[in-house]
Amino acid sequence: MDSSEPTAVKFKQGLRVQKARYYAGETILETARRHGLKINTNCVQGYCGTCLVFLLKGKVHMRKNKALTQQELDNGSILACQSVPETDDCLVEIDG
Ligand code: FES
Repeated sequence: MDSSEPTAVKFKQGLRVQKARYYAGETILETARRHGLKINTNCVQGYCGTCLVFLLKGKVHMRKNKALTQQELDNGSILACQSVPETDDCLVEIDG
């Protein structure tokens, strides 16, 4: 395996940071749910923006984005249901 392949994602919720094991091909949403973290969703297709979370660190690829503006993206907003980690240092902030 390429050593730069993502193997974990960190989730920040309030003051708490948790590290979740990442399995190739999962979205941020799938990783969070497997780890028992709740992210609200609606369409799970990249259209509604309900699953908005913030990428504080690292890099993700969004498969589809029909919800977020360039300004929101520039502020670190990502769609959890469409985002796949590209680096091993992703830190994602979830509301709550
Ligand atoms: S749940 Fe609708 S964009 Fe992610």
